[in-house]
Amino acid sequence: MTDLDAVVAAAETAFEQAAEPAALEQAKAAFLGKAGTLTEALKGLGKLEPDQRRAEGARINAAKDRIEAALRARREGLAAATLDAKLHEESLDVTLPGRRRGSGSVHPVMRTWRRVEEIFRSIGFEVADGPEIETDWYNFTALNNPLNHPARSMQDTFYVEGEDAHGLPLLLRTHTSPMQVRYARTHQPPIRVIAPGRTYRVDSDATHSPMFHQVEGLWIDDGISFADLKGVYTQFLHRFFETDQLRVRFRPSFFPFTEPSAEIDMMFDSGPLRGRWLEISGSGQVHPSVMRNFGLDPEVHTGFAFGSGLDRLTMLRYGIDDLRPFFEGDLRFLRQFA
Ligand code: DAH
Repeated sequence: MTDLDAVVAAAETAFEQAAEPAALEQAKAAFLGKAGTLTEALKGLGKLEPDQRRAEGARINAAKDRIEAALRARREGLAAATLDAKLHEESLDVTLPGRRRGSGSVHPVMRTWRRVEEIFRSIGFEVADGPEIETDWYNFTALNNPLNHPARSMQDTFYVEGEDAHGLPLLLRTHTSPMQVRYARTHQPPIRVIAPGRTYRVDSDATHSPMFHQVEGLWIDDGISFADLKGVYTQFLHRFFETDQLRVRFRPSFFPFTEPSAEIDMMFDSGPLRGRWLEISGSGQVHPSVMRNFGLDPEVHTGFAFGSGLDRLTMLRYGIDDLRPFFEGDLRFLRQFA
C-alpha cells in the first residue's frame, strides 16, 4: 500500500518549492496528473477486495483533498506574491513634490521694449507697430534719402524677393523711421507716437547684429521744437535708468530726414559706466520735405523725431558690453535677467 502521508508531504514540499505558477502546474502533474502518484494509486484500487477497496479509496481521496488544498494554497500564495512584486515595482510615492514645467522669463531686450512703451504711454504717446519688410520708398525715399544718395550706403540691408509698385526691391527695414511716415500719413496732428520693433542691417560684430531693435519716436504739432525733444528725451532717460544722476547732450549730426539733426549722448554720474559719454540715439527736427511726405504742411506743423537702439539701452541698463549673447539663446546668460 502506498504511504499516502509521505505522498502528501512530498506534494506539499514540491508545491512549496515551485517558485512560479508554471513550475507549480508541473509539480501538480507529478501527483494529480494522468500518470501522477495518486492517479496510479486509484487505478490500483480495482485489484482490491470490495471492503478494502472502500477503505483504501476513502484514504486516497482524503489524501487527494489534502494535496488539492495544498495546491490551491500555493496558487494563491504565488498570485499574492506576484501582485506584491508588481505593486512594489509600480509603487508611487504620493508625498513627492510634483514635476513642474520650467517657467520662462522675459528676454532682457523685451523687458526694455516694455519699459519704453510704459514710460512713453505715461506721457501721452501712442504705440504703433509696422512691417519689417518695407518698400524702398518708406525706408529711404520718403525719408529724404533718394536713390543713389550716398547716405544710403550707411544702411546696407537684406533684400527680399518681390518688388514694390515702382519696380524697386522690397527690403528688411534698416530702421524704424519708416514708421514715422506710415503713422503720420494715417493720423492727424497732434501726433505723438513711438514705434518699437525689429530692424536689420548687414552688420555683425560685438556691438552690431544683423537683426537688432529700435524704437522710433515722433511728436508733430504746431510749434513743437527742439526744446521739447530735449525735455521729453531727458525725462525718458531719467525714468528708464531710474536715476537723475545722468547727463544728456545733443551733439550735432546728420540724418537726411531731420534738420537740424543730433546724436543724443548720455553720461552716468555714478556706477561702473560713470564719466563716459555713451551714444544712445539719433534725433532731430523733422525735415520739411519729410513733413510734406507725411502729407502735412511744414509751414504749419513742426516736430521732432528720434530713433534709439533698444539693445543698446538694455546693454547700458545691465552693464553688458557685448550684444551677441542677447541673440544666442544661451540660458545661462538669459536666466540672469529672470
Ligand atoms: N533711423 C536712424 C538710424 O537708424 C536713427 C534716427 C536718427 C532716427 C534721427 C530718427 C532721427 O528718428 O530723427 O540710424
